[in-house]
Amino acid sequence: MPIAGLFGPEDFAPSQRRPAASAPTARPGTGALPRPALEWTPEVERTTAPLYERVKHVIPPIEWPLMAPTIKAINEVKVARNAVILAHNYQAPEIFHCVADIGGDSLQLAIEATKVNADIIVQCGVHFMAETSKLLNPDKTVLIPDSRAGCSLAASITGADVRLLRERFPGVPVVAYVNTSADVKAEVDICCTSSNAVAVVESLRAPTVIFLPDQYLAKYVASKTDVKIIAWKGACEVHERFTGEELRAYREADPSVQIIAHPECPPDVLAEADFTGSTAHMIKWVREKRPKRLVMITECSMADNVRAELPEIEMLRPCNLCPHMKRITLSNILESLLTLREEVTIDPAIAERAQRSVERMINLKN
Ligand code: 13P
Ligand code: SF4
Repeated sequence: MPIAGLFGPEDFAPSQRRPAASAPTARPGTGALPRPALEWTPEVERTTAPLYERVKHVIPPIEWPLMAPTIKAINEVKVARNAVILAHNYQAPEIFHCVADIGGDSLQLAIEATKVNADIIVQCGVHFMAETSKLLNPDKTVLIPDSRAGCSLAASITGADVRLLRERFPGVPVVAYVNTSADVKAEVDICCTSSNAVAVVESLRAPTVIFLPDQYLAKYVASKTDVKIIAWKGACEVHERFTGEELRAYREADPSVQIIAHPECPPDVLAEADFTGSTAHMIKWVREKRPKRLVMITECSMADNVRAELPEIEMLRPCNLCPHMKRITLSNILESLLTLREEVTIDPAIAERAQRSVERMINLKN
């Protein structure tokens, strides 16, 4: 059914909208390690050769000598620090396939974060993902190589906005997409990801649910359930750029092409897709269906990561990059491990309530 209401900041008086908790500030690193020499030597070439095998279809040989010394250094410092690297599917292949210990979508990373047996977690993704890891590992050091790695969805709403929505719709439960700050998570009943959004909404057994902050994911959920959805006007700056027209042009050029899209895309885009799913569900679909020609309507590094694994698939890549995901680089991952910066911290008063919302989602057994 169509969504039942759509709200945004302009629907509340500015004085009512207190700013969200400020982003964590970097703390000076303690116990910095010496900076390794980053040179392309025969030893670097030999030790990184198995890693190059994983990415040889997406990273040209001429670029490898520029990356390999840093990759080798990261993998060594990671062991010395007893650290683990979590990487989202949108990270560049040299990060996703060559230094990450665990890769996946937001849900997989949140679940894996509960099982981590290391002193330090380095989150290669955006800030809300690092906060989620910290919520689930309050006693571990969680690092993000660049804390400016934000998200247009997370930036679209504050905890104060959620409180105002609750005043406007008393008794209506609130679901927050994980793409939100801890401040917002602390004010909601439960979190969801794009992998489990419909199941989470239906788990509340309520006739109406407030779903925030992504209006397009809200519309997608509303199309899959009888629960009435009240949405927030947020949008992903990467996925809202795709158009149905663009997808029709791909199909006209080759009617046999398969098109798969992320549910953060607008409805006219999803209407043209052969499959809609989270990043993990898209990857699973590709592994199972093995299409000859494929268009992935999502952040374009994911197509590289899939092509590294399945080079026989011809990938058409409308290349929308997420500028926030791309703030994470091999250089700043190494820097982060060497200096233990930037550490993610969350106000304990917020953390306890936000953690509950994330844990409720994880405990739903997806
Ligand atoms: P997934 O949970 O599908 O990985 O999506 C996260 C995200 O930020 C998509 O833009
Ligand atoms: Fe946020 Fe969109 Fe980037 Fe995902 S792709 S992190 S939703 S801005």
